[in-house]
Amino acid sequence: MAAAGPTAYWYLTRSTGAVALVLLTFATALGVLDLRRWSTPRLPRFVVDSLHRSSSLLAMVFLALHILTSILDGFARISLIDAFVPFAGSYRPFWLGLGALAFDLLVAVTITSLLRQRIGYQGWRAVHWLAYASWPIALLHTFGTGSDIKQAWMLWLSVVCVAIVVGAVLARVLFGWPENRRRRVGALATAGGFSLFLLAWLPGGPLGSDWARRSGTPSSLLAHTHSATNSSGSRR
Ligand code: HEM
Repeated sequence: MAAAGPTAYWYLTRSTGAVALVLLTFATALGVLDLRRWSTPRLPRFVVDSLHRSSSLLAMVFLALHILTSILDGFARISLIDAFVPFAGSYRPFWLGLGALAFDLLVAVTITSLLRQRIGYQGWRAVHWLAYASWPIALLHTFGTGSDIKQAWMLWLSVVCVAIVVGAVLARVLFGWPENRRRRVGALATAGGFSLFLLAWLPGGPLGSDWARRSGTPSSLLAHTHSATNSSGSRR
């Protein structure tokens, strides 16, 4: 039997998810910009490094809370396995699975960063590229799973996150990567292509009608949901 109404856990899932996305966006943008190269006496390398490290680790803390509260909430019957094994769950399996995939990638990046001295620079760097993949995957999870994407604040938050990462890619390509033309073109094409995909997909997808059903909400839960959220906190 699904829980009768919104629980405190559900509010916590949504808020910790939003904070985790912002922190992940910040950490990703710092990584893309590679600000270490531009360090000055006023912005020394260790400050840039520590900002990147702290925002990444804090994102992991909020993600742990996000996952824990979504399990404890009980409404969507999400298990610990769903948090680690992508596409295994019954609640919006594809979109929740993207969250699990993004989380798995971040766990791999975090572990290899902690063991960097042992595994060496090349191994660490190879895995660290996965961090870039985790951001768009997490964003798609946000759009596909979240209850709030039709709310102006969440939509704007997501748009600002996209603008920050795409802006960072543009800045890096224009000012910081003179030696590698192929990578610059690839990065630009990926960022541009992803933005265009979002523009084309969102109106008929998560912002369109009946997304709760189309995204794979089990029919037993659909009766408890509303096709649009309202500020009183009904589930969509
Ligand atoms: C990098 C990984 C992840 C990030 C950045 C992230 C972030 C977010 C964000 C921003 C939302 C939208 C919240 C809203 O609409 O107010 C969301 C929704 C959700 N996430 Fe995640 N998430 C991640 C991984 C996971 C994982 C692994 C799980 C599995 C347990 C999960 C469970 C959920 C659930 C159940 C919702 C829907 C909450 C609702 O009803 O609005 N997320 N996530």
